Amino acid sequence: MFTLTRLRNWYSGVKVAPVINGEKQHVAVLAFPFGTHAAPLLSLVRRIAAEAPNVQFAFFSTSQANAKLFPGSSNHDEFLPNIKHYNIQDGLPENHVPSGNPLEPIILFINAMQINYKNVMDAVAAATGKNFTCLVTDAFFWFGADLAEEMNAKWVPLWTAGPHSLLTHVYTDLIRDNYVKEDHVEKNFDFLPGFPELRACDLPEMIIDDDIKGPFGTMLHKMGLQLPRATAVAINSFDTVHKPIGNELKSRFKLLLNVGPFILTTPQSMVPDEHGCIAWLNQQENLSVVYISFGSIVVPPPHELTALAEALEECGFPFIWAFRGNPESLPNGFVERTKTQGKIVAWAPQFEILKHPSIGVCLTHSGWNSVLDCIVGGVPMISRPFFGDQRLNARMLEGVWEIGLGLDNGVLTKESTMNVLKSTMSTEKGKIMRDKILKLKESALEAVETNGTSAINFNTLIQIVTS
Ligand SMILES: *[C@@H]1O[C@H](CO)[C@@H](O)[C@H](O)[C@H]1NC(C)=O
Ligand SMILES: *[C@@H]1O[C@H](CO)[C@@H](O)[C@H](O)[C@H]1NC(C)=O
Ligand SMILES: *[C@@H]1O[C@H](CO)[C@@H](O)[C@H](O)[C@H]1NC(C)=O
Repeated sequence: MFTLTRLRNWYSGVKVAPVINGEKQHVAVLAFPFGTHAAPLLSLVRRIAAEAPNVQFAFFSTSQANAKLFPGSSNHDEFLPNIKHYNIQDGLPENHVPSGNPLEPIILFINAMQINYKNVMDAVAAATGKNFTCLVTDAFFWFGADLAEEMNAKWVPLWTAGPHSLLTHVYTDLIRDNYVKEDHVEKNFDFLPGFPELRACDLPEMIIDDDIKGPFGTMLHKMGLQLPRATAVAINSFDTVHKPIGNELKSRFKLLLNVGPFILTTPQSMVPDEHGCIAWLNQQENLSVVYISFGSIVVPPPHELTALAEALEECGFPFIWAFRGNPESLPNGFVERTKTQGKIVAWAPQFEILKHPSIGVCLTHSGWNSVLDCIVGGVPMISRPFFGDQRLNARMLEGVWEIGLGLDNGVLTKESTMNVLKSTMSTEKGKIMRDKILKLKESALEAVETNGTSAINFNTLIQIVTS
């Protein structure tokens, strides 16, 4: 794995001598401060900045988000002194009383972000005497196209999810024009170039539902319209993941750069193995363990947690459960009864676990980062998607790549969970899924090798951003 320690050594000249001059270059990095957006953008920028020590990077985000990414007191990144961070306003009105709606801070941020970024960027350009030569932004920031043009700079948006969800945003108007509610309940979107397997029920929110005119829906729609203006669109994926979609995106953008999987191409901070997961896995048989994680945002509702716990207990497979909720919501006595069968931990070193030969299947929310972790780990998946691109990823896993299974009606019931667990762990079908994901894993590893497509794309990206 590409760790931050390795990055530090690299920067201090242990690995390569930097080849880029770039005293005149000034790169603005505009992060979306919610969910798992800012961290991968920073990883990408650290990798670029390490190769271009004379280029200055200004990282803009809210003070709350910056405090998490840059824990020290300095306004320099602790690993790379050529990255400085600056706070922009969070968009909350003064004396704001929160309504309790978790989306409210995001909406208020979105409503004010364009002007808030511009103000601080102008101040930083004036204070440093260096105009920005490139804007590297979260892909959400559709206004990057005009802002870059106005500043006579390049625009390089990063899409942190997968290519197929990006395609649905690029083709939002096409989908809205061709979607017929009565016809498309079960029928595939055979009109969608590159992705005829898609169904209405797989779509991310805000493409065809009621919220399309809200701030978030408007942002996504404008993003799809503006991305073709970008100098290059970077994405945490690899060329061979699904060629039809990749080719479709390439036909829409000036340049599409698959530079992932980030877990292999950008510096990662190590999650400490506080609960001894790896030592425990070392004692399990190969392909015997179920790994469970629903990501850092959602906890399934109590009746689904109960169903999953009962299914695990009845099937008897060893398990590691990265459990972010309140253990009280698990059935009475479950933790005690499964003490030797499984491990329930608050935080787990996910990638290290997925690479372990004892893991047989991963039960996942199907967020894109987790899907990539499983691909690189060679572990088939069972999907319990919740929101955003997760249903779409689940559809790809089951219907296109055939490296995962869904649950009946997409939710965890005891019976359905037991069926898919047994099917992936102990049947020919499970073996075929494993063989398929190992092929995909191989092509991901090839992509990041010297002269692999992601490696070459990364060099192109570094050139564009720093020259
Ligand atoms: C920065 O940009 C402004 C506005 O385009 C321009 O007037 C100014 O000369 C530029 N400054 C430098 C140092 O290039
Ligand atoms: C388990 O898998 C590892 C890695 O693939 C392999 O080296 C080892 O021989 C396997 N052990 C058994 C008992 O098959
Ligand atoms: C990568 O490509 C270059 C130029 O084609 C070649 O000289 C080099 O040997 C290749 N390296 C590897 C590891 O394949």
